[in-house]
Amino acid sequence: MNAPFHARAGLRDPFTAFVCDDATADMLRPIAVEHGWSPEKVNKGGLRNAVQSLSVSASPNILFVDLSESADPLSDINGLAEVCEPGTIVIAAGQVNDVRLYRDLVASGIHDYLLKPFTVDQLRDSFAHAQSILSGPRGDAQVEKPHVMTAVVGVRGGVGASSIATSLAWLLGERAHRSTSLLDLDVHFGTGALSLDLEPGRGLTDAIENPSRIDGLFIERAMVRANERLSVLSAEAPIHQPLLTDGSAFYQLQEEMRNAFESTVLDLPRHMLIAHPHLVHDAHVAIVVAELTLAATRDAIRILAWLKSNAPQTKVIVVANRVPNGGALEITRKDFEQSIERPVDIVFAADGKLAAQSAKLGKPVAEIATGKLAQPFNTLLKMVLSHASDDVEEPGSDPGAPRSLVNNLKLMLSKPKAKAA
Ligand SMILES: Nc1ncnc2c1ncn2[C@@H]1O[C@H](COP(=O)(O)OP(=O)(O)OP(=O)(O)O)[C@@H](O)[C@H]1O
Ligand SMILES: [Mg+2]
Repeated sequence: MNAPFHARAGLRDPFTAFVCDDATADMLRPIAVEHGWSPEKVNKGGLRNAVQSLSVSASPNILFVDLSESADPLSDINGLAEVCEPGTIVIAAGQVNDVRLYRDLVASGIHDYLLKPFTVDQLRDSFAHAQSILSGPRGDAQVEKPHVMTAVVGVRGGVGASSIATSLAWLLGERAHRSTSLLDLDVHFGTGALSLDLEPGRGLTDAIENPSRIDGLFIERAMVRANERLSVLSAEAPIHQPLLTDGSAFYQLQEEMRNAFESTVLDLPRHMLIAHPHLVHDAHVAIVVAELTLAATRDAIRILAWLKSNAPQTKVIVVANRVPNGGALEITRKDFEQSIERPVDIVFAADGKLAAQSAKLGKPVAEIATGKLAQPFNTLLKMVLSHASDDVEEPGSDPGAPRSLVNNLKLMLSKPKAKAA
């Protein structure tokens, strides 16, 4: 039901409704007709009928469901999620006026909750918005984009890898209009959810404990939505609980995210490279985040060499973060580049004010950075997409055509509409 899954919406009924009373049915039918949908798709029976019906038939693109007769709307909606295929936009209506319920419903993937009694105009607005997600200019949900997987690794602790991972995930969603997942593999101390002002939930912990449960539906329900195009899987596992996994959960998660989203950003703590080296195998791009310090230089050399031998197909972007504006440099950029035997691709200046503002607002730095400060983020997004498009060739693309960063970006952003699945 979550927005990121619209990419899978195929040829389905455009609309179905399950309502509890005649007044709601009478309001809905003309709106269905306005959209060119059959008014006969307005069924009586509310949520219970919706669950029964959808358990034996394909889910529509837009589902209206009346929760008025439901004693426990949240748990019933979760029952609906079990039978509702990914991609359906659900508009619910009910009589319970409780903001917590509203937030819980939205968190579980509901597009909108209309409090009864509502007006025809409110209903119309809600449908118009749902429709615009499916087919409007922002309806990139129906545009098939080859999946892009990026792993972000800090060469030392605290260099800002997670800040960059979160920013990149946000940029892929908001600027490149890709449904994006952020998979935070720092299971005990991860900040993926925290930095976006979200509760991590139990999704990642459940996945690690029960890898066999991981499938498309699990992903849909376990991921926490940051916005329309960004979902996060993160954890705050108890510190007394060791990470007991052979890594199968992580590979399975990568696989399901590849199916469900158009891009995935892995926040990959560097020690995970030791225990689970295969995690970078499927990444199109690895972003290696360093500071200009002696220790970071040593470990940048080692991690770059490791990537070269363990994931030679992965394109590497080297980022120098928290670089002081003049003075106080432990290692100059030139010395750093000489040591790692390659140029730094992107420099992010040390900016405590911006970092603090990002933390206070619960927003990624990329979202609040403007003007000159936004520049390195734009470059990062362009590089990731262009590196990935080198890898993920478009069918029918001309391999002889001249390539440039900008051309590659344009290519990624102007994919033809996918045929319905
Ligand atoms: N360019 C920057 N200027 C100033 N502060 C920054 C910058 N980038 C990140 N920070 C701050 O540095 C701190 C550590 O950042 P972050 O958690 O992203 O690092 P990390 O490499 O993921 O750390 P860990 O090793 O714990 O995973 C945070 O408080 C963050 O706000
Ligand atoms: Mg981190």
